[in-house]
Amino acid sequence: MKRGVCISCRWMFGGVVCLLLAGAGSGSFVRDQDAPPVGPPMSPTQVDASKVMGTQACLDCHKPMIEAWKMTKHATFFDQMRQNPDAKTYATAMGVPDAEITGNSVCAHCHGMHAEATAIKSVTGVSCESCHGAAGGADGWLNAHGSYGSKETTRETETLEHREMRFALCDKAGMIRPERVYLLARNCCECHLMYEHGNIVNKAGHPAGNGDFEVVSWIHGEIDHNLFIDPKKNPQAPSLWMWRYKKTAAERNRVLYVAGKLAALEVSLRNVANATKETSFSQAMSGHARSYRDDLSDINDSATLPEIHKILEEYRKIQRKIRPNNKETLNKFADVVAKTGLEFVQKHDGSQLGGVDSLIPTDVRGKRYNPASE
Ligand code: HEC
Ligand code: HEC
Ligand code: HEC
Ligand code: HEC
Repeated sequence: MKRGVCISCRWMFGGVVCLLLAGAGSGSFVRDQDAPPVGPPMSPTQVDASKVMGTQACLDCHKPMIEAWKMTKHATFFDQMRQNPDAKTYATAMGVPDAEITGNSVCAHCHGMHAEATAIKSVTGVSCESCHGAAGGADGWLNAHGSYGSKETTRETETLEHREMRFALCDKAGMIRPERVYLLARNCCECHLMYEHGNIVNKAGHPAGNGDFEVVSWIHGEIDHNLFIDPKKNPQAPSLWMWRYKKTAAERNRVLYVAGKLAALEVSLRNVANATKETSFSQAMSGHARSYRDDLSDINDSATLPEIHKILEEYRKIQRKIRPNNKETLNKFADVVAKTGLEFVQKHDGSQLGGVDSLIPTDVRGKRYNPASE
């Protein structure tokens, strides 16, 4: 790395910490997760509103992604909520006035997000930063993530060291980059399995999260916006990731599939851990934990994966405790699942996981964005 020319670092740290970080780059396939954040996840429903910039802050550089996102329910449902009869029913049961459903309410934790760091201060739907992490703040990732160094440097000419350093800065700032597969998957699961919001299920009859949530098929429908390198093509894996590592979508899908099952198991277990009595929510989550275990068992039958085998063994030991009032046991096991998930993603590049191909569903959720036909 050429010293003193790194725009992102000068902006972040006055050029000091940059050199230290550059020395810490690892040689692994995806350098990532230096200190795996094991323990209760940072919920996307609790993103720091003072750091949320809003989609406007991405527009200059990511217009194609925004076009794709606009077509998703994540973007469109929010504006219809106040007219939605179910929404009114749930809101009334939770003591939320109709007018506040899309305002400062618990509903907006998941269906939208507060964006205090922008002049607009708006609450949009499930948005860029709901999935990629809040971007703003003095130590935020917004400026750092897209800066290759000096003005002349391009994606092609950026040194490996600079890229490693840039990634380290972004990870530290809480960016969920697409290759941080476990964190990415767990983030979806937190909203889709109603993490820490079981009371809305119990009190209002809101759906208890999707037990059929599966990251590969749910991402590759309406969600995919892999348009960075070629805005006219939307492949089934991030184009930047494929370019960097010379990998294929099939390989990524295998890792995503296994990591997604671990993440869903982790979140289901934590939801049961938080319960102090049997409720419809705790029962739904115990059921989800069982079915994600079954999926992991199928994975274990299809590929030799000692780490998955270990999770199944551990599960068997505590399975009778997957009910309320077992907080410590369940959270401890959830920590093990999380650690396994983070390590799995580091260890596997997908090339050796062909065994799981037959398990991965191919029917995707929602209509895929096709830039050629829009
Ligand atoms: C000034 C231009 C610019 C802005 C503004 C910008 N980005 Fe980026 N972004 C980039 C560039 C350049 C890359 C490619 C970086 C690389 O090659 O590793 C990128 C890559 C990404 C990636 C993929 C990262 C990876 O490691 O593969 C994500 C996710 C992302 N941006 C999200 C956002 C979001 C969300 C916003 C708005 C809050 C935003 N960006 C604003 C320039 C920008
Ligand atoms: C901040 C919470 C949140 C996060 C994070 C989140 N979702 Fe969602 N998702 C929702 C909500 C709420 C809905 C229902 C519609 C709406 O309000 O957007 C939804 C709807 C969807 C739908 C449409 C489902 C249908 O019925 O057609 C898909 C597909 C989806 N999400 C996939 C994902 C995937 C994949 C991820 C992770 C990459 C993810 N979501 C992350 C909250 C979230
Ligand atoms: C912890 C996250 C979370 C919170 C908090 C939350 N929702 Fe949802 N909600 C979801 C997800 C995820 C879906 C999508 C479920 C699916 O696609 O099957 C959803 C779906 C819905 C739907 C469409 C499905 C239906 O039953 O008609 C409505 C309406 C809704 N939510 C209203 C609300 C209201 C009103 C509140 C506040 C009282 C609220 N939600 C709070 C996550 C959440
Ligand atoms: C529901 C969660 C979610 C939302 C909302 C979301 N992203 Fe993403 N983003 C992802 C996932 C998942 C991937 C990787 C997709 C895959 O594995 O096929 C990704 C990939 C990307 C990439 C890499 C694309 C490439 O070709 O390499 C960029 C850049 C990006 N997102 C920017 C954005 C921007 C800007 C927004 C807001 C308009 C946004 N994302 C909204 C989940 C999300």
